[in-house]
Amino acid sequence: MDILILNGPNLKYIGQREPHIYGEKGLDALPSLVAQEVSPRLNLTLKQSNSEGELINYLEEAWEKKVSGIVINAGAYTHTSIAIADCLSWIKIPYVEVHLSNVYAREEFRHKSYLSAKALGVISGFGIYSYVLGVKALYHYLSQVES
Ligand code: DQA
Repeated sequence: MDILILNGPNLKYIGQREPHIYGEKGLDALPSLVAQEVSPRLNLTLKQSNSEGELINYLEEAWEKKVSGIVINAGAYTHTSIAIADCLSWIKIPYVEVHLSNVYAREEFRHKSYLSAKALGVISGFGIYSYVLGVKALYHYLSQVES
């Protein structure tokens, strides 16, 4: 099962960026956490970009490669990007939206997401474990669909 973990702007230095909000673990901790807590057999690809267009390029590439599922943290683009929402909508790859912080406990502008409506679900507030939970949910969903 091929899974893309896609990260938007300002997420490259997670672990170092405002650790009181985003936690102390970096994205590099993910492969071993997922192997331990979900399955060692998942084929994870991790990508990060600060640019909206490049994030769309990664999503199109996932479509070309017939990736099974996507875990996406689009960072601030979550709250602004119709372009990313449109792409997720047409490529029709099941996805889970994740956030490190609990966006609903923060400023009101973070409460709006363009990505949630077509997501399988949203996980927000568990630091790096939001991704682990996102992959777990996706794995569970895909295992049911594929069996
Ligand atoms: C974030 C929440 C967004 O509001 C913010 O712009 C981010 C990170 C999170 O993971 O908590 O960059 O997506």
